[in-house]
Amino acid sequence: MLKELFSIFVPDCPPWARELGLAREHKAIAKRHARVAAAWASHLAASRAAVMAAAERCLKHEQVLVIGAGDCLDVPVEELAAKFRRVILADIVIGTEARRWAKKFPARVSCASWDASGALAVVAAKKDTLVASEALAIFKNADAGPPPGGEADLVVSANCISQLGLVPGHALPATEKDSDLPDRCAKAAARRHLEWLGQRTGVRILLADSVRLNIAADGRILKRESLSERYGLLKPDRQWRWDLAPIPEWSPDFHRVHEVGAWIFG
Ligand SMILES: C[S@@+](CC[C@H](N)C(=O)[O-])C[C@H]1O[C@@H](n2cnc3c(N)ncnc32)[C@H](O)[C@@H]1O
Repeated sequence: MLKELFSIFVPDCPPWARELGLAREHKAIAKRHARVAAAWASHLAASRAAVMAAAERCLKHEQVLVIGAGDCLDVPVEELAAKFRRVILADIVIGTEARRWAKKFPARVSCASWDASGALAVVAAKKDTLVASEALAIFKNADAGPPPGGEADLVVSANCISQLGLVPGHALPATEKDSDLPDRCAKAAARRHLEWLGQRTGVRILLADSVRLNIAADGRILKRESLSERYGLLKPDRQWRWDLAPIPEWSPDFHRVHEVGAWIFG
């Protein structure tokens, strides 16, 4: 009884993904949002608006797949459920918010536990002995397989592309001697995800950080890192700023700000 009650609040996550830090990261995102909700509000609204703009391009409205749905902060679940017959909220961690949406709209919304990188089970199984080149080869060659629920009329990649290799990369013992390894895993997994998206038949929208900035309290840009260049992405269809971690959330010396892009294909 107590176990069942507890399970309502515990995210559903395969043990191998938990071992790679995915459940912990899910909780960290929820906690950060709770602390700085006001700073995130315009980014979340812009993300939801971009998803609905992509939905307008769909000729059919049978199914939408959301990848990296998480707590659906940036996903307009209710609007999608009004427009599409089926909404699949896919993530490797299924939390209470996604389950709540499925319960609210049981005929239309469902959750799917799914690894969008296709690499996590293998990486977790070999984690302790993996050297950098092997880890990178797994992310580069992994196959996520067919989309959960089959091909969708709309595929939403919801602000998860930069996480796919980064979070597991940080869990690798090999990273202790090679601090750049998580970033290289992130690049390999992101490029693989883009290839996978390119094979889909419906309209696709990629929501992703395109630039990461550290900005001092007086407005000076201390660091600028372009992820879209690293992933080989062209100019996004829409772009806005996300005040991800205002001072002192991440550092007492700088605000962490992301430029977020929405790329709509198909
Ligand atoms: C920055 S959060 C996205 C936030 C989410 N869209 C929301 O609105 O709450 C990244 C999400 O990607 C998910 N994720 C990370 N790696 C994944 C993988 N390999 N397969 C599926 N989902 C993954 C995380 O669990 C997390 O929910």
